[in-house]
Amino acid sequence: MWNFLARNKQVAAMLGLLAAAALVVIFLTTRGGGHTVVEKFMDEIEDISDEAHIFSTLSLPSDDRFMPSVGNGHIATNVFSDTVYMNGLYNGRKGESHRARIPAWANIRLKSTLTNHPYSPVYSLDTKHGVFQVTVDRDRSVVTQRIFAHKFYTRTIVNQIQVVPKTHADPNFVHHEIWIAISQMAGPDSKDIAFESPIPEIIDDTIVWKACGKTKETEDPVYQPLPVDVCAYWTSVPDHLVVPHFRSRVFTFVMTVDKNETVARQEFVKILQEDGEELFEKHVERWLKLYQQGGMEIEGHLELAKIVHGIWYYFMSSLPSEGTHLPADKFFGLSPTGLARGGTFDDYEGHNFWDTEIWMFPSILLLYPRYAHALLQYRLDNVYVAAELAKLTGNKGYRFPWESAYTGSEVTQPCCPEVAEFEQHITGCIAFAARQYLAMTRDENWLKHGGCSIVTNIADFWASRAVINYTTGLYDIENVMGPDEDHSNITNSVFTNVVAGYSLYLAQYVSCLCKSYYMAKSPDHWADIAWSLAMPYDETLNYHPQFQDYKRGDFIKQADAVLLGFPLQYPMNISTRANDLTYYETVTRSNGPAMTWSMHSIGQLDIEENLKAAKLFNKSYEGYVREPFKVWSELRRPRVGAVNFLTGMGGFLQTLMFGYAGLRIHLDRLEVNRPQLPPEATRFRIKGIKYLGSNLTLDIGIMETTLTVSSIDANWPLTMNNGRYNVTLVPGLTVTLSGSGPFTIRSLPWKNCKLPADTIGQNYLRPIGL
Ligand SMILES: *[C@@H]1O[C@H](CO)[C@@H](O)[C@H](O)[C@H]1NC(C)=O
Ligand SMILES: *[C@@H]1O[C@H](CO)[C@@H](O)[C@H](O)[C@H]1NC(C)=O
Ligand SMILES: *[C@@H]1O[C@H](CO)[C@@H](O)[C@H](O)[C@H]1NC(C)=O
Ligand SMILES: *[C@@H]1O[C@H](CO)[C@@H](O)[C@H](O)[C@H]1NC(C)=O
Repeated sequence: MWNFLARNKQVAAMLGLLAAAALVVIFLTTRGGGHTVVEKFMDEIEDISDEAHIFSTLSLPSDDRFMPSVGNGHIATNVFSDTVYMNGLYNGRKGESHRARIPAWANIRLKSTLTNHPYSPVYSLDTKHGVFQVTVDRDRSVVTQRIFAHKFYTRTIVNQIQVVPKTHADPNFVHHEIWIAISQMAGPDSKDIAFESPIPEIIDDTIVWKACGKTKETEDPVYQPLPVDVCAYWTSVPDHLVVPHFRSRVFTFVMTVDKNETVARQEFVKILQEDGEELFEKHVERWLKLYQQGGMEIEGHLELAKIVHGIWYYFMSSLPSEGTHLPADKFFGLSPTGLARGGTFDDYEGHNFWDTEIWMFPSILLLYPRYAHALLQYRLDNVYVAAELAKLTGNKGYRFPWESAYTGSEVTQPCCPEVAEFEQHITGCIAFAARQYLAMTRDENWLKHGGCSIVTNIADFWASRAVINYTTGLYDIENVMGPDEDHSNITNSVFTNVVAGYSLYLAQYVSCLCKSYYMAKSPDHWADIAWSLAMPYDETLNYHPQFQDYKRGDFIKQADAVLLGFPLQYPMNISTRANDLTYYETVTRSNGPAMTWSMHSIGQLDIEENLKAAKLFNKSYEGYVREPFKVWSELRRPRVGAVNFLTGMGGFLQTLMFGYAGLRIHLDRLEVNRPQLPPEATRFRIKGIKYLGSNLTLDIGIMETTLTVSSIDANWPLTMNNGRYNVTLVPGLTVTLSGSGPFTIRSLPWKNCKLPADTIGQNYLRPIGL
C-alpha cells in the first residue's frame, strides 16, 4: 500500500522497542533428525479451545492491538478498547482523514478481571455466534459477560452480564446478596468529534445518557462542506450489580450510535423494551443465517480451521448487516483493517485501497455475491469524484484515487504522495472486480444501474493514458507504479498494463451487453488499444520483467508480476509462469505482506509443485496470525504494521479457494482445477458457492471430490463436465469429480456478445494458455 520505506524511521523505532522487549525464541528440532526449525514465541498466548469456531484463553494478549473486535458493519469496537468506530464517520482533512473516535461508552469491565483476584477469568471469542465472552467462576456465583455488536439492531453494542448464584452445600448457610463490581471505561474525550456534554434522560424508568456532536474537520471542502453529526445513547452503568442469592439475573447495557439522532434514539428505546435473552437470540440468529448461506469447513487441521473461521468472522463484522431493525446507512467500504480499527496512520485510517478489490473481494464474491455488489457500490457512489480526478490529471473517464474514505476523493496520507500519483492500477483493479462480478452473477440490474457506465468510463481513462510509441508501434502506459512500491514512476508495468488491457476489453464486451439501454462511444477503439498495449516479456529468459527497464536482480517489495498468473489469470506458457514464480521469489523482500506468499503458493499449485506450494502456504500465515484471537498483522513477527490485516486474510482465503480447491472464474464458465486438500487437512468443504444464481457445495475429501447442487436459477441452467462426461446440474444432485480436471461448469451464452480477448501486446508470441 504505502511505500513502507517512507515510514522507515517509525519502523526503526518500532524494531528497537521490540528488540528491547527481548522476545524469547526457542528452536525446536523436529523428530527423526529433520532439520526444520520451528520458531515458537514465548509471548504467544495459547488458544485452549478445541472447537474450530471458538478461540479461548486464560489471559489476554499483552499487546492490545491483538485483541479481537466485535462489529456489524455499522459499528465496531476492539474488545475492551476505549474506542468505537462507525461506518462512514471520519475526521481530518485529506490525507489526515481517519476514522473518528467515539468514546467507548459500551466498554464495561468486571472489576474482578481488572485487578489481582483469586478467580481466573476465561475469555472466548465465539466466531459462529458473533460474541465475545468473559466467564468468571467466583465463590458464590458464576458471572458471564457477553459483548457483541448487534447484528439486527445494528446501531448497538450490547454488554450483558449474567450472574448465576451457586447453591451452598450447607442448607443452613445464611446467604447474602451477591455484589458484582463493574466499571464503565469509556476513555478520554474524543479528539475527533466535538461532543456536547452528556445529558441524562429517563426512558422507561431507566436512566440513560445522550451525547451528540459533530466531527471537527471535513475531509475535503469541495466534496464535504459540512462536518458529520453523530449521536450516542447509552445506559447508565452502576458501580455494582446486586443479585439476590437465590435467583439468576441478566443485566443488559447498551450503547447506540448513529449520524441521525432519531435513529439512535429509536433503536435505543426499542432495545430497552426487549427481554435480555431474546435480544441475544435475535443477534445469534442473524449470524447463523449468514453462515448458512456460505462458508468454508476444514477437518483434520484445527489451526487452519480456526484461522478460516476467524477470517470470515472479521470480514462479516465489517460488512453491512441485512434485514436490520432500521434501514442500513450507505456503506463506506471494506478497508484493510476493518471497521474496528483505522484511527491512525498505522492502521490505514479506515481508507479504501485496491486491497478491497484484489485481495478481499474474490472470496467474498464466490460465497456472498451481494456483498461483492455492496463493495462495488461504494465505488459507484463515488464516480463523480473519480471523473473530477481524471479531469484534474488531464485524463478522461474515471480515475479512482489510491485511497478514499468519506467523500471518495484522494486521501492518501501525507507521507507518500507518489503512491497517489502513480499507483493508478487501482482503477484497473476495480474493473477487474467488475469483470469477476459479471462472470459470477450476470447481474443485468447492476449493468443498468451504473455498471455499464463505470466499466466504459474506466476504459476511457486507460485509453487516455495509453500513448502510441512510434518506434514500437505499441501503446505505452508511462509514469505508473505497480503493486511493488519499491519502483516508482515506471513505464509499462506488466500488472498495470494487464489490468488496463482487461479494462479496455471488458468495456467492449459490456458495450455489447448493454447496447439496448446504454450507448457506448467507441467499443472497438478500446479493444484496439488493449490489443496493442506493450507487454514486457523477455524471450531469452522466458519471463515477465516487472516493467520496461526493470533491472534483473532488483529487489521488490511484494508480489507484482506474479499476479499476472493469479489473480489475473493472464494466459501464458506454463514455463513462463514457472520462471516468473521462481525468479520473483528470490528477489522479493522477506518482510513484505502475507499476500505475496499466498500468490506464490497458488502459482506453485498451478505448476504442480505441491511441496513448494505447501511451504509457501505456511509462509503466508505463520507469523502473521496472532494468538489467541487469530488477529492478523500486516508484517511478519516480530514486526507488526497494520492490524487487523484483512488484506492478508483475503490473500490467504484465495489460496484455499483458488489454489487448493482450484476454483477459477471465467466470463463463460466456472472451473474447478485439480482440487486438492490443503496440507494436513482430511476434508475441505466450500459451502454455498453462488454461480449464476445457483448454490453449490464443493467437497474435497481424501478419497473423492464431489460437487453438490442445492439450487439452480431457472434462467441459467448449468452443465458440468465431471471428468468423463457432461451432466446437467439439478437440485439435489451430487456429482463425483474424477481425475484432476479442469471440471467446467457452463450455462447458456449471455446474449449474443463475443467474449472479450485477454491477450495484450499481440506482436509477442501468442502464448499457450495454462
Ligand atoms: C518507445 O519504445 C522504446 C522501446 O521500448 C523506448 O526505448 C522509447 O523510449 C519509447 N519512446 C517513447 C517516446 O516513449
Ligand atoms: C516521473 O517521470 C517523468 C519522466 O517520465 C518526470 O518528468 C517526472 O518529474 C517524474 N515524476 C516524479 C515525481 O518523479
Ligand atoms: C512453452 O513451453 C514449452 C515447454 O514447457 C516449450 O517447449 C515451448 O517452446 C514454449 N513455448 C513458448 C511459446 O514459449
Ligand atoms: C508447514 O508447517 C507445519 C507446522 O507448522 C509443518 O508441520 C509442515 O511440515 C510445514 N510444511 C512444509 C511443507 O514445510
